[in-house]
Amino acid sequence: MTFVKVLGILGAHKEHGVTRMMLDQVLHQVQAPNTSEIIYLEDYQIKPDIKGQPNPTMDQIIAKLEAADVWVIAAPTYWGGLSGVMKNFFDCLRQRLVRFDHKGGTHPDKFAHKHYISLTNCYAGKWENFLSGVTDASFRTIDKVLTAGGLIKIGEAVQTATWGLTELAPAKQKELTKLGQKINRATRKDDQTVKRYFELFFIVAVMAFITMAIQSLCLKLLNLSLGFWSNYISFVIIFFALLAVTLHFFTVVKHKRK
Ligand SMILES: Cc1cc2nc3c(=O)[nH]c(=O)nc-3n(C[C@H](O)[C@H](O)[C@H](O)COP(=O)(O)O)c2cc1C
Repeated sequence: MTFVKVLGILGAHKEHGVTRMMLDQVLHQVQAPNTSEIIYLEDYQIKPDIKGQPNPTMDQIIAKLEAADVWVIAAPTYWGGLSGVMKNFFDCLRQRLVRFDHKGGTHPDKFAHKHYISLTNCYAGKWENFLSGVTDASFRTIDKVLTAGGLIKIGEAVQTATWGLTELAPAKQKELTKLGQKINRATRKDDQTVKRYFELFFIVAVMAFITMAIQSLCLKLLNLSLGFWSNYISFVIIFFALLAVTLHFFTVVKHKRK
């Protein structure tokens, strides 16, 4: 395996606030020969591409994005969503992140198979965020943009109760350390294929079991016995409903809140 290059992208009003502390904690785990670098988006005048006009700032950032294997996106939650500076960066990046088809549909392009980590934070406390998901929208925006570009997620972390916070708690440092250590195992290609097959097998096995349990419970309660086709159709409907809810939970709803 060749060495991994990591790019931390900091999109916060404060250059040395809590977001930076989180980013540093993750990047400190990057071990030689792997390397890391941080860009602070406020240092750049980021503008969208306009046809026929040069955009040297974006060219400079794109060169760094291309060179990196792992992007660590670090941005606070402002007004219940991703910080404006990071959002503006994502908006301006769109033209170069994805390939457009003849209908304007987007497809992963040159950044496909790179990896990313998302970090965010908020003033809201641990339990407020746990119950109301103040930071969910920030994670969702990052996921939406980067998965459109074909990037693969390594993980995410959130720091709550940042008001007056001058140091990350030991437990949070540990969590971010673990997340950072995963970078050293991230390769240029997605190496999760085998793991995903096992996960899929597990999901199918559990879903089939729950579906059959629900089916037989319903039959018992209704005192019915079904023929082959009604059995098959009811199985498919229950299985589909369970799978849809589970996939929605894991892909859309479930984000770190504490
Ligand atoms: C413009 C602005 C909007 C914010 N909106 C929220 C918010 O909606 N909910 C919240 O819990 N914290 C909010 N905060 C607090 C930020 O999330 C907080 O500043 C951040 O966690 C601190 O990170 P930093 O030290 O890197 O700036 C806001 C802060 C700013 C500056």
